[in-house]
Amino acid sequence: MRVIITKDYEEMSIRAARIIAEQIRRKPNSVLGLATGSTPLGTYRELIRMHREEGLDLSKVVTFNLDEYYGIAPDHPQSYHYFMLENFFKHVNINPRNIHIPDGLAKDVKAFCESYEKEIKKAGGIDLQLLGIGRDGHIAFNEPGSSLMGRTTLIALAEETIKDNARFFKNEKEVPRLAITMGCGTIMESRRILLLANGENKADAIAAAVEGPITSQVTASILQMHPDVIVIVDEAAASKLKRKEYYKHVNKILEETGF
Ligand code: PGA
Repeated sequence: MRVIITKDYEEMSIRAARIIAEQIRRKPNSVLGLATGSTPLGTYRELIRMHREEGLDLSKVVTFNLDEYYGIAPDHPQSYHYFMLENFFKHVNINPRNIHIPDGLAKDVKAFCESYEKEIKKAGGIDLQLLGIGRDGHIAFNEPGSSLMGRTTLIALAEETIKDNARFFKNEKEVPRLAITMGCGTIMESRRILLLANGENKADAIAAAVEGPITSQVTASILQMHPDVIVIVDEAAASKLKRKEYYKHVNKILEETGF
């Protein structure tokens, strides 16, 4: 894992957007795995700016989102479909046919999950997967105890996640209890993974994911097994990492030597 510690959210977002933009420039038909939540908003804003001001071309990019609430329609203002459209897709030149987000209204959930996996394979696999992390250490909606080798599936949201996400709904009762999510196994097949976190409330989850044991109780910890993961965290989210100085030292060398 390469751990990059930035001074704040803004710098985290800019670093992340640059990595995604480089990927798109190197391979215009890149397959991107995308995430929702507060964490990647700044990254999307920066990518939109790059599209408008620097001509970043997303016309050939293919995207797969990590997850979607189950039981709400795509046009529901709290659906992840709506989030992606409002915060990213409608501001860039992505081809709507290239966008994939789990169907929160799928009748045959098992068949849907299998077809989502097949679509990812058909597209050639995910080149770069963007991830946030939950306070309970989840990636996508892989809550504590989820299989570290799981595939796309229906899951029940943990109480902590329901509470955290209630801020977007009228009240806690309105938060869907189920979601469709890529599994850890699906995520681990991505060629490259970019994990972002900011704020003090993510410090425990980041410490557990990066320096703790690999355990299904902190599903982000499986990323330690992946050969190409970049973790970008602000100072607050990095505050409980024991080897902070070491990560800074490594990055300094890599930057000085141009790697
Ligand atoms: P957040 O969510 O970016 O809104 O903090 C992250 C997550 O739960 O994965």
